[in-house]
Amino acid sequence: VPVEAFDIVIFGGTGDLSRRKLLPALYHRWVDGQIPENSTIVGTARSELDAQAYRDLAREACEKASGKSWDADAWEKFAQILHYVAIDATDPEGDWEGLKARLKAEDGRPRIFYLATSPHLYVDISRALGKVGLVDGMCRVVLEKPIGTDLASAQAINDGVGEVFTERQVFRIDHYLGKETVQNLMVLRFANILFEPLWSQNYIDHVQITVAEDLGLEGRADYYDRSGALRDMVQNHLLQLLCLTAMEPPNDMDDDDIRTEKIKVLKALRPVSSQDAKRLTVRGQYAAGMHAGKPAKGYVEELSETGGSKTETFVAIKAEINNWRWTGVPFYLRTGKRMSSRHSDIVIQFKQAPHNLFGEQSGNVNQLVIRLQPDEAVRLYVQIKEPGPGGLRVKSLPLNLSYAESFTLRYPDAYERLLMDVVRGNLSLFMRRDEVEAAWRWVDGLIDAWDTSGYQPEAYPAGTDGPMSAAMLMDRDNRSWWKES
Ligand code: BG6
Repeated sequence: VPVEAFDIVIFGGTGDLSRRKLLPALYHRWVDGQIPENSTIVGTARSELDAQAYRDLAREACEKASGKSWDADAWEKFAQILHYVAIDATDPEGDWEGLKARLKAEDGRPRIFYLATSPHLYVDISRALGKVGLVDGMCRVVLEKPIGTDLASAQAINDGVGEVFTERQVFRIDHYLGKETVQNLMVLRFANILFEPLWSQNYIDHVQITVAEDLGLEGRADYYDRSGALRDMVQNHLLQLLCLTAMEPPNDMDDDDIRTEKIKVLKALRPVSSQDAKRLTVRGQYAAGMHAGKPAKGYVEELSETGGSKTETFVAIKAEINNWRWTGVPFYLRTGKRMSSRHSDIVIQFKQAPHNLFGEQSGNVNQLVIRLQPDEAVRLYVQIKEPGPGGLRVKSLPLNLSYAESFTLRYPDAYERLLMDVVRGNLSLFMRRDEVEAAWRWVDGLIDAWDTSGYQPEAYPAGTDGPMSAAMLMDRDNRSWWKES
């Protein structure tokens, strides 16, 4: 369904995120006929480019991202709505008037400012937009993660942006919320009668959330080394997945109802103390090893940082949620760079059946595995009788819903869905201020616990599943990380 015509300005319009995600997402929505022709897309950045040079840059990016689905004719038309204005976002005297002139001043037309710059510019950009008179009731601002580097800096950004935009105009994006299977998690939980009665400490033994990447730094050394896996992935993506798994059913799908339930979970997370830092968490950093069958450098060599680095590229956490539903059910979180493969899964491990009629059974019997990537799938492992005459042997097999087998659609990238939600003004899949701040509060406590206890990252060879301690974290509880058999 087409959205109404809109203007979007992308700050950081020549950057990595714009080229890999934002411009291709807009192009794909255009190809699918969702963006009306009288919409305007304006890239801005410091470089002095003309519109044609920007279109060339965008074309290369979109063509690369599209692969076989590239449509050169559609591109020619799309390029007509693409413009560029050079602005130094740190300069209040920059060409803000030039930007204003590019945008349509029609009543009721959504105007979106997408801030894909370094977060320390968010406040300056918001103020400059306010000053030049570009902010009215139909404006929306999109803030990319990370929003700050800790609670205090997140609050400063939220305060500064809040001087210009009201809370309902601020779209704090977490692209994991736009992924198909993440949204499906809510449908699975709340559109079926089957799962919810079992969804608590009565029947669930534990939950595992893994976001494993095989990639390393990918040219983002500067940002990543100041951030690390906890701030880059756990503070946002993993905690959001945890919230959607653990939250109570919202009253309806209204944005504030969902966000209110998520924040209750964040507030119930048990803080990790310095005494518990090594018992409940694992901090790792990859050393030299293998990637895609070839020798790969360690993190510090990749950084070419002779002085070394104490940044973690792997985190595992045994998180506990102190509330009625989840007390006693650990949520094991794990994420890292340069792991053995790229896969993200949420695994719900149910408890043992109370009475065993069929002899030897290994471990817990039922698992619900929600696979986010690389292939979207939902698998419910059940015990079945192994066919054949040789006695009654029980085996665990999945009831398997593979998206690729069930749907032939092209899966839109998370950014496509989320950008159109911004145009529609739908905040459900975006984070509210208090959510981001509650997540930082918990993460700040953990960083503090690492600092106080002097916990330095433990080395793991590139191409493996993290330091030994990550396996031990589970082993101590007589559990293990789930692996597809
Ligand atoms: C980003 C992180 O938010 O998410 C990156 O900054 C990470 O470090 C990326 O690689 C992972 O996203 P996806 O969609 O590829 O799983």
